[in-house]
Amino acid sequence: SGNTFSMVTCNAPVNIAVIKYWGKRDEECILPINSSLSVTLHQDQLKTTTTVACSRSFQEDRIWLNGKEEDINQPRLQSCLREIRRLARKRRSDGEGGVDLAGLSHKVHICSVNNFPTAAGLASSAAGYACLGERPSNEVGVYPVALSGPFSLCSLPLLSPFSFFPVYTLARVMGVEGELSAVARQGSGSACRSMYGGFVQWIMGQREDGKDSVAQQVEPETHWPELRILVLVVSAERKPVGSTSGMQTSVETSSLLKHRSDSVVPARMKEMIDAVHRKDFAAFAELTMKDSNQFHAICLDTYPPIFYLNDVSRHIINLVHHYNQHYREARVAYTFDAGPNAVIYTLQQHVDEFLQVVKHFFPPETNGGQFVKGLPVASTTLT
Ligand code: PMV
Repeated sequence: SGNTFSMVTCNAPVNIAVIKYWGKRDEECILPINSSLSVTLHQDQLKTTTTVACSRSFQEDRIWLNGKEEDINQPRLQSCLREIRRLARKRRSDGEGGVDLAGLSHKVHICSVNNFPTAAGLASSAAGYACLGERPSNEVGVYPVALSGPFSLCSLPLLSPFSFFPVYTLARVMGVEGELSAVARQGSGSACRSMYGGFVQWIMGQREDGKDSVAQQVEPETHWPELRILVLVVSAERKPVGSTSGMQTSVETSSLLKHRSDSVVPARMKEMIDAVHRKDFAAFAELTMKDSNQFHAICLDTYPPIFYLNDVSRHIINLVHHYNQHYREARVAYTFDAGPNAVIYTLQQHVDEFLQVVKHFFPPETNGGQFVKGLPVASTTLT
C-alpha cells in the first residue's frame, strides 16, 4: 500500500580479533592488506542495537547514534545505504520478492545504540561501527555510568548464533537476503566479521572490486564451549587516533607492516585456524598474544608513532605472562585493539583463579570501587 511503514530491530554483536586487521589496500572499498580472524561475543553483554524504520512520510534518510543525530552523508554510511537499496531493487526485478516498489523509494530512519564505550578502542568498533562511518562522539552508550581506571571488568560467555548488524537491519527492512558481509565491510572493515557468530575469518580476497573480500565462519559458537572472554576496561576515553587514520599512516610509513602482511599473517592465519579446529588453547593463546604485540609494535613503527597501550595495559601483559610461566603453560591470553583495554581469552576452569590474581594486583580501592554498573556480568564481578 502507499502507506507502508515498516520497522526492524536487530542486535549487532561485538567481535574481538585474535589475528588483527590493520591496513587497507583500497580505502574506498575497504579492502584489507591481510586476512584476519575474530571471535564474536555473546550479544547480551556487548552489542549495538539498531532500529530501522522505513516510511513514505519520511522526507529524508536520517540517523541517530546513542540518541544524538549524526550526519547521514558520511561516505561509508552512504555506501551501505546505496548498496542495500541496489540489492533490494535487483531482488525485486529478479522477481525474488522483497519489499514492494513503493517501499524501495521510501526514506529510512536509523537509530543505533551501543551498550559499551564506542570510541575507546574496545571491541574494534565492529558493532560500534553500527555507526556506519566515523566514530560517534558519544563516549558511553546507554549506561550513564562513567568508567574510571584502572579498570572495570566483565566476564562474558561466548558467542552468539545471531550476528546482526545495522547492515543486516537495513537489509531486513528492505527485504534483502544473502551474503551481506561485503556490504558490512564497506561500513567498517572489521564489521563484516560480526555478520557471523563463533570463530570468523575475513578473507582479504584478491579481486579489485572486493567481491571476494568476505567474512566466513570457521567454527560455530558451539565448537569450543569452555572458551571465555574477560574484558578489562582500562579506560573509556576516546582513543587519540582512530583506526581509519591510524591504519593510513601505518600503511604509508611502517615497513614492519609490509613485512607483517607479506610474510607473517598468511602462515599465522593457517596456524590459528588449525588451533581453533583442534581447540588447542596453548597454541591459540600464543598466536593471539604475538599478534596483538605485533600490531602494537607496528603502531610504534608508524611515523609519527601511535600509542594505544598505557601503563595499566602493560601491567596486564606482564601479569598474564607471569601467570602462564607459573604454570608452564599458556592458560590466559591478552589482546588489545586500538585502545588500552585488555581483552582476555581463557578457559572456564581458569576464570575464577585468574580473576583472584587480577583482584590481588588491581584491588578495587585503586579505582574507587567503580565498575561498569550497567553491564550484565556473566559469571563474576569485581566489587
Ligand atoms: O574496522 P576498524 O576500522 O574499526 O578497524 C579495526 C582494527 C582493529 O580493531 C585494531 C583490529 C581488528 O581486526 O579488529
